[in-house]
Amino acid sequence: MTENSCIAMEKYILLTKEQIEENLEQSVEIKGWVLNFRSSGKIWFLQCRDGHGFIQAVVSKNDVSEKAWEDCQKITLETSVELSGVIRKDERSLSGYEMQVGDLKIIQVAAEYPIAKKEHGADFLLDNRHLWLRSPRQMAIQKIRYTVIMATCEFLDNNYFTRIDSPILTPSACEGTTTLFEIDYFGQPAYLSQSGQLYLEAAIFSLGRCYDFGPVFRAEKSKTRRHLIEFWMMDAEMAFVKHEENLAIQESLIVRIIEKVLDKNKEELKVLERDISVLEKIKTPFIRKSYLEAIKELREIGSDINEGDDLGADDETVLTKRYEQPIFIEKFPAEVKAFYMKRDPDNENFVLCSDLLAPEGYGEIIGGSQREENYEVLLKRIEEKNLALKNFQWYLDLRKYGSVPHSGFGYGLERIVTWICGLKHVRTSIPFPRLLNRMNP
Ligand code: 4AD
Ligand code: MG
Repeated sequence: MTENSCIAMEKYILLTKEQIEENLEQSVEIKGWVLNFRSSGKIWFLQCRDGHGFIQAVVSKNDVSEKAWEDCQKITLETSVELSGVIRKDERSLSGYEMQVGDLKIIQVAAEYPIAKKEHGADFLLDNRHLWLRSPRQMAIQKIRYTVIMATCEFLDNNYFTRIDSPILTPSACEGTTTLFEIDYFGQPAYLSQSGQLYLEAAIFSLGRCYDFGPVFRAEKSKTRRHLIEFWMMDAEMAFVKHEENLAIQESLIVRIIEKVLDKNKEELKVLERDISVLEKIKTPFIRKSYLEAIKELREIGSDINEGDDLGADDETVLTKRYEQPIFIEKFPAEVKAFYMKRDPDNENFVLCSDLLAPEGYGEIIGGSQREENYEVLLKRIEEKNLALKNFQWYLDLRKYGSVPHSGFGYGLERIVTWICGLKHVRTSIPFPRLLNRMNP
């Protein structure tokens, strides 16, 4: 038990490696679900899961009461149970441990479970997402997602960031008006946030370095394997940080996240059959290419992209399949990027921005830039993009009262989890995905 442990009202252990090891060869109680079982007459083998780990429980007719033995015959997939017995090491069983059951109590006999061992189609599984989450693969993904979140917060905390919770209901767009969800705010139009960035920019004048972490929304009629309608973004914003340092912070963060996952989630990566040697190779500095270099390279390998075009998903895929390290694509044309990005002093047609692309074909995981800090210039940009000035007065104020150079970036949590887990589609990296054709369950 650590000093932060919850006080257990009932005595049972969790199937974590630590708690199992601490209780080896002793009689303990566990509570969980039966994910698989088989019987050979006088012995039942129950594969059990409690959300923390797995164990094989062996029930022998001779070791348990008549009532317990009768109950054992009623067990179905996903039946919830309380078991007590002695836990021993057993190399043959999947988890490496086995419980010799002394007593067994059924909490609820599960109805016929719709998700069987056989292959199911993606739609069927997504319709049953509330149940599918129990499968070992889905459990592994969610555990890794949690490690990514924790590693991110820890890294930012160690680097003097304060978390600021930005609003979800907003009067205006952050990332262009084409992907906004409009709602009725007591007779006024309001929009679901696409990113908390603009609010974080306000907060850095109070706290220096800030981040937010929350759901954001993009009403994109896109069905690609990278798009979610609702996803989780971490926006970080830093006073006095310029373009180069912005990139350095991003790559350190990504390396730290990978280290943490490799350290904490070996078992989960194994369940996902992820080739971890690929992740172990990720190190700083990441590859850097200017937008123009990227276009040149893409054309050389057969893309029909033209100078001035934004990089499409397919371009990102072919480009990143060629490298083992993440790639920063820097300095996009101002035309294809947001109004707040600072122009490159070396060439005013481009902005001091970067997209970080994950290798193996995964593509963009972070978007970031240095921000325009000059009042007049920013005002001009807002006017050029025909944005409603009244909604941006407060944002312009930040350039009136002690303006400073500053930069920031935003990552898509699900894109990072999808890459680290080696998944095909971003939809299983979030517990309950919202997609173009789905917001159920
Ligand atoms: O590149 P984006 O649009 O950048 C911003 O929103 C900036 N305001 C962030 C900032 O500077 N603070 O989005 C950031 C990241 C992308 O790199 C991508 O990883 C993810 O958010 N993302 C999506 N993830 C899943 N589904 C979508 N539809 C996504 N759109 C963006
Ligand atoms: Mg982007």
